[in-house]
Amino acid sequence: MSDESRPAPAPHTPAPTAAVIPAAGRGVRLGPGAPKALRALGGTPMLVHAVRSMAASRAVSLVVVVAPPDGAGEVQGILDAHALPERTDVRVVPGGETRQESVRLGLDALPPEYGVVLVHDAARPLVPVDTVDAVIEAVRGGAPAVVPAVPLADTVKQVAPAGVPGEPEPVVATPSRAVLRAVQTPQGFDRELLVRAHAEVTDEVTDDASMVERLGVTVVVVPGHEEAFKVTRPLDLVLAEAVLARRRLNDGF
Ligand code: C5P
Repeated sequence: MSDESRPAPAPHTPAPTAAVIPAAGRGVRLGPGAPKALRALGGTPMLVHAVRSMAASRAVSLVVVVAPPDGAGEVQGILDAHALPERTDVRVVPGGETRQESVRLGLDALPPEYGVVLVHDAARPLVPVDTVDAVIEAVRGGAPAVVPAVPLADTVKQVAPAGVPGEPEPVVATPSRAVLRAVQTPQGFDRELLVRAHAEVTDEVTDDASMVERLGVTVVVVPGHEEAFKVTRPLDLVLAEAVLARRRLNDGF
């Protein structure tokens, strides 16, 4: 067979990628008011910023938003009222009592063709698209679990928590800051691996990568971004407004 008559090799088609956004938390540390994901930043709900930040990646074709258990209708209404890229499908499902449960319910809603899944906190509304793309690229490149992370500014101490709130706590260790990273989202996974982790790991954890670690699978870190910080306390809202104002100024020139 001559070279010309041989069928061309199938072009490499990367695995379709979906993002799950857990947004069912109450956000009590932010103070009284609406659920955290529905609070406004620059006049737009934090959740809408988070959905846009995932949809900004051309690789992401589906975003599953996990709403408060009794708030799926309200969340759908909020998303319908804001402009989102047409090429991205956005669906809303009701969440659960814990973040883990909410993520699992989001994973249950993924159609079978999605081979790569990102999990992104609604509470990190301003993550830049380059960070999202770096995570996706690393998963598509063969890493089964990828987290964006940044070096720590503060030294971290491990303490023996005092029994009484407000009492001084003895320090028991100071891990070397050079080997510590503060982990952000979106965290990216081979979809089957993350589904298995959510089925098998029952310990309470604070991120999805920890569940994969419990299965003995290596998680890798790619550079995160200072603007991917989590809006947790009232001061974080001030910082987020400042980041948005700076972006608007830069976009205007
Ligand atoms: O509470 P924390 O800031 O760690 O929450 C991280 C993310 O998990 C938030 O986006 C929050 O809305 C979400 N979450 C959830 N379901 C819960 C608790 C938290 O989707 N039951």
